[in-house]
Amino acid sequence: MKNISIIILAAGNGTRMKSPKSKVLHTLSGRSMIAHVVEKSLQISDDITVVLGYQFDEVSSEINREFNNINIVAQDTINFPGTAGAVMAAKPKFDKTLIICADMPLVATSELISLTQSNSDITIAAFESKDPFGYGRVVKNGDQVIKIVEQKDANEDEKAINLCNAGAYCFDTALLNSVLPQINNQNASNEYYLTDAIELALKAGKSVSSVLVNEQNFMGINDKLALSKAENIMQEQIKANLMKNGVIIRLPQTVFIDIRAKFEGECEIESGCVIKGDCLIKNSIIKSSSVIEYSTVIDSDIGPMAHLRPKSHIVSTHIGNFVELKNANLNSVKAGHLSYLGDCQIDSGTNVGCGTITCNYDGKNKHKTIIGKNVFIGSDTQLIAPLNIADDTLIAAGSSVTHDSHKGDLIIARAKQNNKSGFFYKFFGKKDEK
Ligand code: UD1
Ligand code: MG
Repeated sequence: MKNISIIILAAGNGTRMKSPKSKVLHTLSGRSMIAHVVEKSLQISDDITVVLGYQFDEVSSEINREFNNINIVAQDTINFPGTAGAVMAAKPKFDKTLIICADMPLVATSELISLTQSNSDITIAAFESKDPFGYGRVVKNGDQVIKIVEQKDANEDEKAINLCNAGAYCFDTALLNSVLPQINNQNASNEYYLTDAIELALKAGKSVSSVLVNEQNFMGINDKLALSKAENIMQEQIKANLMKNGVIIRLPQTVFIDIRAKFEGECEIESGCVIKGDCLIKNSIIKSSSVIEYSTVIDSDIGPMAHLRPKSHIVSTHIGNFVELKNANLNSVKAGHLSYLGDCQIDSGTNVGCGTITCNYDGKNKHKTIIGKNVFIGSDTQLIAPLNIADDTLIAAGSSVTHDSHKGDLIIARAKQNNKSGFFYKFFGKKDEK
């Protein structure tokens, strides 16, 4: 469907969010609210305009980072605050214009499409809610929509209405352009409300209808409580979809999975895990309470309680408890316990002993550790980067390694043990034996 223009309203201050960050930059399942809404809009239209105001630079760079060909315009928020003021900034090019708010990331494209299929001059999306507080109420006379009254402007009878404005509208574009200049700011917020277009259209003899949509899909996120509710719903959808497609998730309500994460083959995610960013997990098991960020895990087992920080690439590898990786490339390696492996490359058959640390940071710069095949790293080894450990190197436990090795070397880099006979008794004196 490419003959519909879409305007996404994203200029508001988001005051109720109580945040220094624009409301639409807050994330759900790892992706910003604005990116979720633009992504869905792209399934319907190739003429998408996002109207920005508050934090214009930050929000526009987020959009440009994720998408091409999105029109970004600025609302005159000083002279024309409010949702109608936002629409004034856009120039839709097709005969029909779908207007949606940026704070509804759960929106279903099928329902937006159904709005565009109505024959009325204006079609609004509405839902019945048991708890309509905060939403604009849709006042109807029979099937005819008469007006939308905002919570702040509603009288007691109007507040009792359960039919809510979902915040998505399909307009005949010519009608939209003709009513916009007539909207005023005579209301409790002194804002130019887009919803006032309805009464003006009716006065001009135009038709206005409503389409019932799912309340959950059109939930407007105005504060952090709503953000967490919406994220919960989205998480359930993401995990249900993964499980239907063959991923085992133990106690899924305790697991967070980023919308960008991909799973292939048979994967198992145990309870309490967090998978952040565009990870790829393939034929692997992630044991409980592990965190994986922006990494690839193939044919491996991770955790419990392991932390893979960004840019880790793990193939056929065992990562055990309390092991932290960052920018680490491991192929057929065993790192079973309590290690930090950062800015490193470790090759096949290598065993990383408990307590191994790649000392990658000298206080100014990060340095790389390269470890070859079949290396045996004894426990409690510090590898002081930059360092190159050749294939078949044996590193004695407790070593502080500062120099590269040659193939087949034994490295022992620790103070020599010195036993002083009887020193204990000289120091503490002899205890009476009972
Ligand atoms: C709005 C609707 C309300 C509806 C609800 C659905 C209006 C006047 N009210 O209320 O009827 O029930 O959404 O969730 O439309 N925005 C701008 N410029 C502005 C003000 C807002 O672009 O000057 C944008 C915001 O960034 C936001 C959207 O418009 O994405 C809606 O604004 P918001 O403040 O969330 O309106 P609600 O009070 O939720
Ligand atoms: Mg809102």
